[in-house]
Amino acid sequence: QLGLNTKFFGREIYYEESVDSTQKIAHRLAYEGAVEGTIVVSEEQRMGRGRLGRAWFSPIYTGIWVSIILKPEIAPQQAPQLTLLAAVSVVRGIQKATGIRCDIKWPNDILINGKKVVGILTELVAESDRINAVIVGIGMNVNQEREHFPEDLQAIATSLAIEGGHKWNRAAILQAVLKEMEDLYFDYLKNGFQVVKLLWESYAVSIGKQIKARTLTNSITGKALGITDEGVLLLEDEKGTVHRIYSADIEINE
Ligand code: BTN
Repeated sequence: QLGLNTKFFGREIYYEESVDSTQKIAHRLAYEGAVEGTIVVSEEQRMGRGRLGRAWFSPIYTGIWVSIILKPEIAPQQAPQLTLLAAVSVVRGIQKATGIRCDIKWPNDILINGKKVVGILTELVAESDRINAVIVGIGMNVNQEREHFPEDLQAIATSLAIEGGHKWNRAAILQAVLKEMEDLYFDYLKNGFQVVKLLWESYAVSIGKQIKARTLTNSITGKALGITDEGVLLLEDEKGTVHRIYSADIEINE
């Protein structure tokens, strides 16, 4: 019923009315040996998960809450590349389906006019040093009105309906995003990260700017120089020391 036009993504589809988290279900399916491209979609998440242990607001019938199971043969340190690949796919898919242009804030926040419209959570299912699966969770705010968001989110979150002025067909947006992602993913497996990296840099708003990166343990201020071939952020502090940032929240100060 989703009308997908992809070959691999969505070979197996689990479509649910309400779940705790599509990530949680995808983890279980991956553990049970799900095929690559299996997707889990739900109309609502009661306990949607965000990055860094946060909750993800996932009300019924208004957004796209989806997890995709990938089984790439890559080293664990290459996994951030897939996060960036997902971000690029979302931006391109949204642009194709709606004409709305989004920005990417490292590593994978998708913004419109500085407000977050999509969040991406990439999780590994790994055994010792081998990746069994990568679960890419995408949460897209599509048809929420401003008053649907809890008060604390209203200043920082938005939806495609708020920005575009009317509601959108969610299935069409999901189709477009999955199509972009499938094409980019197979190109990535065959030819490597360079194309994704260039595309990502063309959508990124944080590069070249003064930013503050808050990691779990400290915070570093400086200039975002770019990303490495692994997808790691390079941040130069005022002393000229370059830090490699693997995971952080970014605030753009300029
Ligand atoms: C973020 O914090 O920005 C990431 C949010 C990721 C939300 C998506 S919605 C589908 C999938 N299931 C979850 O529980 N989380 C991800």
